[in-house]
Amino acid sequence: MYTFLPENFTPVKQKPSKELRPMLGAVTLGLILFIAAVVAWCYYTVSLRKAERLKTELMDLRADGFVIRNQHGEVVFRLAFRSGSLDLESCSKEGEILSCTRSNRGPLNFFIQTVKPKDTVMCYRVRWEELAAGPAVEHTMFWEDAHWYGGSEMSTQHWPIRLAGYQEPVPYVTSDVYSFRDSFGGILERYWLSSKAAAIKINDSVPFHLGFNATERSLFFQARYKDSPYKPPPGQQPFPELSYRVCVGSDVTSIHKYMVRRYFNKPSKIPAENAFRYPIWSTWALYKNDIDQDKVLDLRED
Ligand SMILES: *[C@@H]1O[C@H](CO)[C@@H](O)[C@H](O)[C@H]1NC(C)=O
Ligand SMILES: *[C@@H]1O[C@H](CO)[C@@H](O)[C@H](O)[C@H]1NC(C)=O
Repeated sequence: MYTFLPENFTPVKQKPSKELRPMLGAVTLGLILFIAAVVAWCYYTVSLRKAERLKTELMDLRADGFVIRNQHGEVVFRLAFRSGSLDLESCSKEGEILSCTRSNRGPLNFFIQTVKPKDTVMCYRVRWEELAAGPAVEHTMFWEDAHWYGGSEMSTQHWPIRLAGYQEPVPYVTSDVYSFRDSFGGILERYWLSSKAAAIKINDSVPFHLGFNATERSLFFQARYKDSPYKPPPGQQPFPELSYRVCVGSDVTSIHKYMVRRYFNKPSKIPAENAFRYPIWSTWALYKNDIDQDKVLDLRED
């Protein structure tokens, strides 16, 4: 009995282990497959949620810019973040506001707020605020294959806008287009409108510089305080901030009407009485350089 038992036991012990080995292999393989499936599922749902998170109404946000579609799915507005790209991992969405806290340059305040003021109009408020002095914030808006209107008076005026060559961003301030041919004229708005019924209004708070590259059909929107006539508001740090509102509508007329009503208010005050009482007369319109004392006196009589 005693001598038999171990002999009996050992084969019994070995037998199942021989049969178990392939089974163990199968179980391990199954387990690996299961874990892989779970990991893939998690990855899929996370990326799905991320895509969901970065899609806000008809706008698709990427690290390097965004596109906006109209109600028919056509891309009507395209913009690139030229001065830095977003760290999408730092983005989160709460209600109508999508915000991000980091770019590849460091911490920042970034948000996009969706506003639907009317059934046919969708607006996106965008704000990119650096949390350090110095580097400019620059976004590039592409004209795509649309006609654009707005901007400023130029020495050679085209309608729709036609630009040639390349211009580094320069302060968006009025100037004398007769003396300085490449400058902006006396009429100037931070507003552009496209034939695809998209419009953009740069916020008044922005230390705004404008440039363009006609080859890539783009406008550069830049915010900076360095080497600029703009000064930060009293008591505030010179952290450049670029904010604007992009609105998309069903047709050009209605979106322009909406933008004008919303952003270009009627005068709130009567102009100074002296502007009417003591107008400044110029002889230039009538006589140009060909002027003398008699002509001035004649003009006064008229
Ligand atoms: C737009 O400018 C106004 C004042 O000019 C400011 O109060 C407001 O915060 C700015 N909006 C954004 C989104 O930056
Ligand atoms: C303008 O854009 C074109 C096309 O993208 C590019 O090749 C060119 O270098 C740009 N010009 C300047 C001066 O950056």
